[in-house]
Amino acid sequence: MISRETLLKIARYGQMAPSGDNLQDWRFSLKENSIDLIGEFFSHPFNLSHRASFPGYGAVLENMSIAAQEFGFEMIEDLFPAGGGRDLIASLRFLELAEKKPHPLFPFIEKRAVNRRNYSRKELPSQIRKELIQTAQNSGLGQLFIADVSLAKKYAAKAAFYGSQVMMERKDVHDALFNSIRWTQRDAEKTRDGLYIKTLELRIQEPAFRLLSSWGLTKALNFLGLSRFAAFQDYRLCLGSSALGLIQIPNDSPKAVLEGGKLFERFWLKLTSLGLSLQPETALIFFLYMLRDNPSQFTPSQRKCLTQGLKMLKEAFSLENERGILMFFRFGYAAQEPSARSLRKEI
Ligand SMILES: Cc1cc2nc3c(=O)[nH]c(=O)nc-3n(C[C@H](O)[C@H](O)[C@H](O)COP(=O)(O)O)c2cc1C
Repeated sequence: MISRETLLKIARYGQMAPSGDNLQDWRFSLKENSIDLIGEFFSHPFNLSHRASFPGYGAVLENMSIAAQEFGFEMIEDLFPAGGGRDLIASLRFLELAEKKPHPLFPFIEKRAVNRRNYSRKELPSQIRKELIQTAQNSGLGQLFIADVSLAKKYAAKAAFYGSQVMMERKDVHDALFNSIRWTQRDAEKTRDGLYIKTLELRIQEPAFRLLSSWGLTKALNFLGLSRFAAFQDYRLCLGSSALGLIQIPNDSPKAVLEGGKLFERFWLKLTSLGLSLQPETALIFFLYMLRDNPSQFTPSQRKCLTQGLKMLKEAFSLENERGILMFFRFGYAAQEPSARSLRKEI
């Protein structure tokens, strides 16, 4: 028997998971001995077929399973239970373990955070590289690819460049991004979701970024090369990291995407435990998904950028095919902690 207090504690660790724009688009329903995870599927052009929501749900489940073990329980998942409706992601039961054994990744759930600062170019030690690859292999949930030699990093950084460029050129993505920005600490504390401006590490560029909340101005400046300039900043950040990484999953089904989210979270926690930082670079992979669905929503030059971005990704990570590209990110050694942390809603 598990107490309500322990169920609540486990759900709180779930709540610490990463989510697109920190929108935490899920909720928990606490029952007598179990928890239901319910999807609230945030509205965003990237969230086609809930492609951006499911990795977050996987991360929630990963955190909960780790926390359950830490508190002496095994979490038994029933994913997408029959008759549960479209929004019921998982029903979770908890079996008391004969022996309580701390989970090595548990202390890092609270420590994990996106770090959008510059990293150093310090090489990944081969032992760490091996451990990371092993983490993915042992999970059986997907494959991890690492680009950490000069040419591969260059290709991967170029892929990020194309994603960022197109991102700056689309009104729908622009509007969704600025909707999720919380401009002051007070605003961030009021909603306890969204992207608090200080987590974006803009520093002296913050006032200019504020002006870009006007789509009219962004559009006009794009004619003068703004989208390429912004993409170049991203390219530099990627190239200046120890490595870029990509997670590929067996197929694009909701279950596979969710399981890939578990792997992504496990990998991120492992990185945190090793003193490494990470920033997702997902614009390109969401655009590629959107491109497959409806190419006509992009201009010919954007289609060219995205096709080129895919080519760069495949080169960088020696991908055999383009199916199931789930996550793309940079990682490495950051000289400093993030300037601010994202908040979480109360459960
Ligand atoms: C599916 C998904 C996509 C994301 N894409 C990006 C991204 O492209 N760029 C970025 O800086 N952060 C990205 N993030 C990170 C979230 O913005 C971050 O997890 C959220 O703001 C909460 O902050 P925290 O992870 O520091 O707790 C992504 C997270 C998820 C789950």
